[in-house]
Amino acid sequence: MLERMTGVGSGQIVRGRERWESQLAAHTRHLETRLGPGAPARIFFSPGRVNLMGAHLDYNGGPVMPTAVDRGTFIAARPARGRRLRLASTLDGATLEVDLSTVTRQRTGGWVDYPLGVLLEILALVRHRGLSASLTGLDVLFGGNLPIGAGLSSSASICVGTALALDRMWELGLDRMDFVHAALRAEREFVGVQCGIMDPYAVGLARDGQLLWLDCKDGSSTYIPIDPARHAIAVADTLVRRELAQVAFNERVRQCRSAFESLREHQPDASCLRDIHFDTFDAHRGTLAPAVARRAEHVIREVARTFAARDALERGDTRGLGAEMFRAHDSLRDLFEVSVPELDHLVASAATSPGVLGARLTGAGFGGCVVILLETAAGPGAVDRIASEFEQRFGRRPSIELYGGDAGPREIAGPRGSP
Ligand code: GLA
Repeated sequence: MLERMTGVGSGQIVRGRERWESQLAAHTRHLETRLGPGAPARIFFSPGRVNLMGAHLDYNGGPVMPTAVDRGTFIAARPARGRRLRLASTLDGATLEVDLSTVTRQRTGGWVDYPLGVLLEILALVRHRGLSASLTGLDVLFGGNLPIGAGLSSSASICVGTALALDRMWELGLDRMDFVHAALRAEREFVGVQCGIMDPYAVGLARDGQLLWLDCKDGSSTYIPIDPARHAIAVADTLVRRELAQVAFNERVRQCRSAFESLREHQPDASCLRDIHFDTFDAHRGTLAPAVARRAEHVIREVARTFAARDALERGDTRGLGAEMFRAHDSLRDLFEVSVPELDHLVASAATSPGVLGARLTGAGFGGCVVILLETAAGPGAVDRIASEFEQRFGRRPSIELYGGDAGPREIAGPRGSP
């Protein structure tokens, strides 16, 4: 796990950037250790994300409210001889080597399929747009400080970051939407995950101190500011990782599709489950299989909750936003059935902690993390209390940290980045 690599302690409050300098120096050293000496490296950063509202709505065409965090992927890249491209990670000892002239759409079955998929997308884009770039060989090392498989979107972080690094190393002149589309296509069409659009958008379009309001029906987006002086976001990691999470996620996608196929017969103007009115659902819920009806009810009510949360935030009512987060968690537990006892315990404990405004599981669920919205002043006390209660119940302290916001993918060190 990446968080083990960086020595993240349990229950402490450490802001991501406080440790960047030493982590970056270590990452550059790792490149030499792993791939040998070479040209000076440039380092790129791509954040992870938490989603405050709109759980499991992206693949149902609904609205979501994610924000980027100051933990993410470090990508060190340097030019290499010829047309050889090597991809390695600090997480394992494997290195994938491909020749840019002959690389094919052959999956490896490992993590490297994510950056490989992006590489293939970028090469296709270069051909399609007739870009006159000189595609030289590269050595690329991935690492970072984002917990993997924890619901903080490590895969989109890697994919969007890969697109950025290739763009900058080859001077292609692509923009953030190109990175987002390359990441999305790589995950869906190469890796084969039926993911929604939220994660690459949340990472690629990130702005510091802002929540992204993304309408997943048409891809339109705006930003909603959140004042870091008054409000903080903590992420509590249960350290529970479910092997079958991907299977269960794909099952939820199928169940939502099935609900939509049945309900659209009664509301022909609907183009996705988000469009189905509660009344339509309520009149015909008996025709759906019970589990499918529960999934649909979650989605339809979560759409309304997410709009209510945005309205609350826009009138400065963060307590109102927090109340919607708690309701969302209840629904994820009871109707969407993607929670686990560790997540429920963290949310229940947060609900009784002074200064906490809201909490819910973030990401797909089945383990992973709870996102907690709290008053900045309450931070240390609340975090310590929640961590202690968890320890009493489960016999181990969870990792709970305050996360800062992030400005999105960029070069952070090397010849053209700021150190
Ligand atoms: C995972 C997926 C996202 C989204 C969330 C649930 O993180 O990658 O696209 O569906 O689950 O909101």
